Amino acid sequence: MCGIVGYTGPREAYPIIIKGLKRLEYRGYDSTGVALHNSDGLKIFKKKGKVAELEDAIIGKNLHATVGIGHTRWATHGEPSDRNAHPHRSAGGKLAMIHNGIIENYIQLKQELTNKGYIFTSETDTEVLLNFIEEIRKNNQCYLEEAVRVALKRVTGAYVILILDEDNPDTIIAARKGSPLVIGVAKGEHFLGSDASPMLEYTKEVVYVNDYELAIVKPDQLILKNLGNEKITPYVQKLDLELAAIEKGGYDHFMLKEIFEQPQTIYDCLRGRLDAEAGTITMSGIQQYTEQIVNANRIIMVACGTSWHAGLVAEYIFEELCRINVEVEYASEFRYRNPVINKGDVIIAISQSGETADTLVAIENAKQKGAIILGVVNVVGSSIARTSHGGAYTHAGPEIGVASTKAFTAQLAVLTMIALKIGYIKGTISEERYRHLLNELQQIPEKAAWTLKHSGKIKELAEKYKDARDFLYLGRGYNFPVALEGALKLKEISYLHAEGYPAAEMKHGPIALVEKTLPVVFVATRDAWHEKVISNMQEIKARKGKVVAVITEGDKTSEQLSDDVMIVPEADEIVAPMLSVVPLQLLAYYIGVAKGYDVDKPRNLAKSVTVE
Ligand code: F6R
Repeated sequence: MCGIVGYTGPREAYPIIIKGLKRLEYRGYDSTGVALHNSDGLKIFKKKGKVAELEDAIIGKNLHATVGIGHTRWATHGEPSDRNAHPHRSAGGKLAMIHNGIIENYIQLKQELTNKGYIFTSETDTEVLLNFIEEIRKNNQCYLEEAVRVALKRVTGAYVILILDEDNPDTIIAARKGSPLVIGVAKGEHFLGSDASPMLEYTKEVVYVNDYELAIVKPDQLILKNLGNEKITPYVQKLDLELAAIEKGGYDHFMLKEIFEQPQTIYDCLRGRLDAEAGTITMSGIQQYTEQIVNANRIIMVACGTSWHAGLVAEYIFEELCRINVEVEYASEFRYRNPVINKGDVIIAISQSGETADTLVAIENAKQKGAIILGVVNVVGSSIARTSHGGAYTHAGPEIGVASTKAFTAQLAVLTMIALKIGYIKGTISEERYRHLLNELQQIPEKAAWTLKHSGKIKELAEKYKDARDFLYLGRGYNFPVALEGALKLKEISYLHAEGYPAAEMKHGPIALVEKTLPVVFVATRDAWHEKVISNMQEIKARKGKVVAVITEGDKTSEQLSDDVMIVPEADEIVAPMLSVVPLQLLAYYIGVAKGYDVDKPRNLAKSVTVE
C-alpha cells in the first residue's frame, strides 16, 4: 500500500512526481503529499484526499525544484488527514520522509523519543522512524546514510523510505524491506517509484532494490549498499513495458478497459506456451520443477482475495487432472499457523502484484522449511516472483483498476496449463482428453471476445438490480469459486452486501435470506453439476427470489427458470470459469457506475496490499 515517487536530476521534479503519483494511486489514495527542495528550502505540501486535490490546492506555490519526493497514502497508523499525510518533517526540520509499510515496534521507539523530549505532530509510525533517524544522526554525529542504517537495524516491520535532507539538496536516501522500490536510471538523473510506471517515458533501465538495501541517489550517481555498509553493484534491467499499457485508451475506467482486454491477455498468456496442434505446453519457469510437481504428495496454493479464488478453481482442476491432493490457503492464515510442510510439498503462490505482504511472508516461511515455491505472478521482477524458485508469469500487463479482473483469468490460464502439463506427464489424463483440453484452452480468447460482444444487456441488468440491498452468488464445482469472485467484485465496487456460496450449501443457512427482493446470481453454465444447479434455482424460485443466471448459450431450461440471464459460449467445464466470470465482472462494474462510485478507486481499498 501507499505509492512513493522520487526524482533527482536536471528536470522540474514536481510534474514528474505528480504524474507518477497519479499512476500509483491504485496503491492508496486517502491523502497525498510532496516534498521539494528549492530556493525556499525544503518545502512540504500535503493534504487529505486524492492526488488531483493536492494539485489544485497548491496552484500558485513555488513548486520549482529539481529534486523531490511524493506519496499517495493508504492509512495504517492514524486516520486519513492533512497531518497524517506524508511527507513528514523531522523535529529538527532538516529531513523530510515518505514511507510505505508498517514499523511494528514504533510504540517502543516513540516512547524512547518522547522520553528525550520529542513531540509528535502526527499519529504515524513514519514520523517516529524519521525522528529516530534524526536522533541517531545527532547523537552519533554521522552522515544521514549511516544514521538510516543504524536505525533500520532496530526496526521491525516493513518499509520503503525516501528521505530528503536540507543539507544535501540533490540527494535522496532510500531503503527497502518488504515493500517494493524501483530506481530508474538515466543520464544525469534518477527516478524512484513503488513500481516502474512513474518513470516509463524517461527510461527503460531500472534497478529493483532488494530487501535490506540502502540507496544513495544523486543525479549522476547511484550507490547501493547493504545494511552492513558493503557496496552492492546495481543490477540494471531493461523494462518491457510501454506507456500505452498504463493508460485508459478511450475507456471510462481502467476496470472496464481491463475486462475488455481479457481476450488479448489470455491470448498473451497462452502464446508461445500452448501449441494445441503439436500437443505441447512449454513453460520454462516450471520445466526444472516438473519432476517435483509430478511426485508431489501435496500442492498448497497460497494467495489472498481474487488470487485465492483462482487457487480454489485450480484446486478442482489439479485434483481432477493430476490426482494430487491440493490445499488452498489464505496466506494471512497460513503464515501465522504452524503449518505442516513436508519435504516434497510444492507451494504455488498466486499474486497479481507479486507484493502482497502475507503471500510473500507465507512463501518465505515455507521456503525455509524446504518446500519448492512456484510463483504465478503478474508483475515481472516483483518480490514474490523473485522469492519463488520457479513459476510462470501471467503476462496480463499492468492491472490498474483496484478490482482485479484480467489478472484472475490469466491466473486461471496459467494454472490450467500447469495442471494439464503435469497430468499428461503423470498419465492421469488420457491423450484424448489432454488434446481436447488443449484445444478448449486455445479457444478461450475467442470465446471471451464472444462473451464480451454479447454482454450488452448487462448494463440494463445493473440498472434493474442496483438498488437491491443484498445479493447471493451461487455456483457448484468449478463455478463455486467463480460465484465467490462475482460476490467479491460486487462488494468492492458497489459497496453492496454480496455473499458467495456453494449452491447446495445454501440450504444450510443463506436460504433464510431469500425473498422477492433478493437477487440470487447463479453461475449455471452447462457442466457435470448442471442438473443439480437447476434444482437449486428452482428452490430459489419457489421462495420468490429473483434468479439472475450466467448460462451457456442455448440453454433454454435455465433461461426459462431465470428472471434474467447473461450468456457465455459452450466450453469444457475445466476452462469455463475463464468465461463465466466475465459477465459477473461487468455486472459489478455497471452497478458500481450506476451508483455513481469511483470504480477504479473503491473506498478503503488499495491495489497492492503490502501490509499484513
Ligand atoms: C480483488 C482484489 C484483491 C486482490 C488481493 C491479492 O479484486 O484485487 O482481493 O486479489 O489483494 O492481491 P495480489 O493478487 O496482488 O496478491
